[in-house]
Order: sequence, then structure tokens, then C-alpha cells
Amino acid sequence: MPQPLIAPSILSADFARLADEMLAVKGADWLHVDVMDAHFVPNLTLGLPVVQALLKATTTPLDCHLMIDDPDRWAIGYAEAGAYNVTVHVEAARDPVALARDLRAAGARAGLSVKPDTPLEPHLETLRHYDTLLVMSVEPGFGGQSFIPEVLEKVRTARRLVDTGHLQVLVEIDGGINADTIDAAAEAGVDCFVAGSAVYGADDPARAVRALREQVIVATPHRAWAG
Ligand code: DX5
Ligand code: ZN
Repeated sequence: MPQPLIAPSILSADFARLADEMLAVKGADWLHVDVMDAHFVPNLTLGLPVVQALLKATTTPLDCHLMIDDPDRWAIGYAEAGAYNVTVHVEAARDPVALARDLRAAGARAGLSVKPDTPLEPHLETLRHYDTLLVMSVEPGFGGQSFIPEVLEKVRTARRLVDTGHLQVLVEIDGGINADTIDAAAEAGVDCFVAGSAVYGADDPARAVRALREQVIVATPHRAWAG
């Protein structure tokens, strides 16, 4: 049944037990994997070899969020490995249209992400080539930061364009999503909610996923969810 998508971010999981941590959120729609290179963002996480191992350990679609320089060179490997969705940053990509084409040709969905201070308007044409728009609601780099509500204006813009048939993207939000902030994101029109600390910081992560999804459904009783 169509429903809001919840994507736990394994950035907040125990990195020594990633396979178990992925199982701990059974029922999640996607698993969000934050790839950081210590250049595009001031943090270093994991790369392609770990993603290849994660793909063998789960059947849940992997949503790879590449916070790296030169995604034109590196993103394709994640698509070829079998990631379901590969998101690159518009601030880092040299030729985002060609990049989207290559990601799709390799069998992945193509995602484009914008940092909190990056406006959407200059990139609307580019977005036509993408499947997902990832609106960052914190500065990329670390989990557990506070939600920046001003980014919801970009969500509203994207939602309007999608609902009027001018754009075909799934709208995803990432950063500071928890029980206190998810209603506002849902009301603005988000389709897919990334949550790191709100899921892995909970006593029962699988239950936290269900609770967040239920909260979105209650907050937006008139939304028709994409199938
Ligand atoms: C931040 C990452 C997020 C992070 C979100 O740069 O892109 O995916 O894991 O964590 P929370 O939900 O704790 O803000
Ligand atoms: Zn992320």
C-alpha cells in the first residue's frame, strides 16, 4: 500500500554491528547510507567497499547519500553495486545532468541534494533529469543536529511543482527529523523522511520507524502517497 517512506540513517547506528543494525529496523522502506569524504563535509564515514558489503546483508533498498567531492567520478560505482537510489550534491557535481543519466543507465534512481542555503530555483531544469530531491534540513556532516525549518519553503515549492505535473521527483528530507519536527515536514509535502538519531537513539528502532510513519499519516490525512 502506498505510504510515507521512512529511511533510517545508519550514520547513527553502531558501526561495529551494521548488519544487525540494519535488521533492527525491519519494516523501514529504505536504509539511508551517508557517504562522507572529509572534503565536501568535515567528516569521514564509509565508502563503496562497505556499501557493497551492506548490499549483501540486506534486502531493504539502500539510499546512498554521497557527501563527497567529484561525484561525477565516484557516484556511478554505487549504482553499479546495486544501490536503489544514489544522491549527489548539486554543489559538488560538475555535470549533474550527465551524472543522472549515467546513474539511471546503471539501474539506480538518481537523487539530487541541496544544502540548507542552496536555493532550488537555479536547479529546477536539472531536477527534471532526477528521480529524487533530497532537501537537507541540517548542514551535512553530522547526525543529531537541530532541524532548520526555513528549508521547508523548498519542500513546498517542489511539492507544488510535482502536484501540478511540472516536476516528477520524490521529495526527501534529511536532518533533525524526529517526533517534534516530522509533522511540519509532512505538512510541507515530504514523501520520504530520513531519520538517524530519532530511530537509532530509540530503545526499539523498528518501533520508532512505525511511530514516525504513523505520525506522518495522522498529520496529513488528505495526502495521496505515491505507490
Ligand atoms: C547528515 C546526514 C544525515 C544524518 C541525519 O549529514 O546526511 O543523514 O544521518 O541524522 P539525524 O536524523 O540524527 O539528524
Ligand atoms: Zn544523509
